[in-house]
Amino acid sequence: MTLTDDAGKAPVLSARGVRVSFGGVAVVKDVDLELYPGEVVALLGENGAGKSSLMKVLAGVYSPDTANVIVEGESVHLGSVSHARSHGIAMVHQELNLVDNLSVAENIALGREPGTGPGLAAVVNRKASVKQAKDALEQVGSRVDPRTLVGRLSLAQQQQVEIAKALAQDEVRVLLMDEPTSSLPEEQAQDLMSLIHRLRDAGLAVVITTHRIPEAFAVADRIVVMRDGNKVAEYDPNDGKTSREEIVNSLIGRELTTLFPDKRTEVGSVALELEGMSGGIVEDVNLVVREGEILGLGGLVGAGRTELARLVFGCDPLTAGSIWVDGQKCRIRGPRDAVKYGLGFIPEDRKRDGLVLGQDIEMNLSLPNLGKWSKGGVLSLRQLASKAEDAIGSFRVRTRSYRQPVGTLSGGNQQKVVLAKWMAVPRRVLILDEPTRGVDVGARQEIYTAIDEIARSGVAVLLISSDMEELIGMSDRIAVMAEGRLQGVLEKEEVSQAYIFKLASQLESVS
Ligand SMILES: Nc1ncnc2c1ncn2[C@@H]1O[C@H](COP(=O)(O)OP(=O)(O)OP(=O)(O)O)[C@@H](O)[C@H]1O
Ligand SMILES: [Mg+2]
Repeated sequence: MTLTDDAGKAPVLSARGVRVSFGGVAVVKDVDLELYPGEVVALLGENGAGKSSLMKVLAGVYSPDTANVIVEGESVHLGSVSHARSHGIAMVHQELNLVDNLSVAENIALGREPGTGPGLAAVVNRKASVKQAKDALEQVGSRVDPRTLVGRLSLAQQQQVEIAKALAQDEVRVLLMDEPTSSLPEEQAQDLMSLIHRLRDAGLAVVITTHRIPEAFAVADRIVVMRDGNKVAEYDPNDGKTSREEIVNSLIGRELTTLFPDKRTEVGSVALELEGMSGGIVEDVNLVVREGEILGLGGLVGAGRTELARLVFGCDPLTAGSIWVDGQKCRIRGPRDAVKYGLGFIPEDRKRDGLVLGQDIEMNLSLPNLGKWSKGGVLSLRQLASKAEDAIGSFRVRTRSYRQPVGTLSGGNQQKVVLAKWMAVPRRVLILDEPTRGVDVGARQEIYTAIDEIARSGVAVLLISSDMEELIGMSDRIAVMAEGRLQGVLEKEEVSQAYIFKLASQLESVS
């Protein structure tokens, strides 16, 4: 006999008493989860709540202490990724798992189960793999050329490739998507939502994690909230009663008042001036950022915002233009020079640029701070440890100790370490690229407070963000880019979401 729900449908997957621990500490504590065909479940919770760990058990990545899993009425053992796959369970990971120096087609072929598809052989059989990749990409609405190297793609495009790769295996019944929209701007997140709804309508059970609450409301048929490894609540977002506030309070376990700090009223003299900056797709950008000011940088994906930040920080070469800090012309040939002039840069892709995953928190924090935290060139280990503890405390990084390798922290907590790492450096200018990507609401408020404090201490802040609410909530002025060029700079009074969007899509221009 099969258990059925009220509507008479049997769950495609039922997991009971899932328990996962690391180093003797339980991070998922006896969680029950039922998934039905043709439904979307949003799994919400703070950074470190155990969302990814729960999903990884279902995908056969982590082996749980205990778990009773039933797929289509049959008790199964999900001992490995290929086991899980053979039961129709696929996962798109939070940190993308693509190989940069292989092509899109090769990456998709590698995701296929040997035996059910061409597997490794497809990497050799180029023509077939390109055709297959094309079909898989079409399914997710991507127009990426399968022959492109993955390393050349934007994060949004890589995300599409990941999903195509997950769907390329045979007969997917359960699709687990861990923060698939965190690297996507609004419009592309919308596209992904439509794709998820199409997959649901085709009968899949889809589980998605996200830190954007409105998104959970828009996409999900059911919302499941986790806190500290426990499942604490379930909601029906479409019952007309459930409010966003209720969900936020349930997931952080306290009431959240205001998200953004009060606006700063005093700005000083010009700290950073960019003159005729060109390089890559960036063309002739002129900007000033004053001491104590937060200048927001908005635009659509591909507008050249990250590229501009990389030029300023010396990651990519300038073809023309100059950078001035406190009225002094700088010669920046690489990030090391940039740091010397008092610049800090928190990059968008933490896995690639921001962290050494195999090293612990303490070591990661110390990298840009070596000069400051050492006396006469000798590093004080005790001081280092206490700094690491401070940073963990002020950003509420959820970790067992500062000795924990950064790669084993939850995604949002890794982001907090990147922030802590750069926030501690003395500098004139701080450039932040999508600083709250993948960070939960509670921690977002703490990060906003930290950014505000840095600005108030006299640092000029350049804040790149695709989150309109964040851009408007944090910035004193907002510069908008499109196609590598500056479209205009909006003063406080002029700022509105519609106006920024028009500038970003080049529907309007400012004198
Ligand atoms: N491989 C691992 N080794 C040690 N600890 C781990 C490992 N994987 C996860 N953890 C710990 O388990 C806890 C839960 O992490 P998990 O990644 O499941 O959180 P999450 O809810 O997905 O958070 P986020 O929203 O930040 O992605 C964290 O404290 C994390 O450090
Ligand atoms: Mg996670």
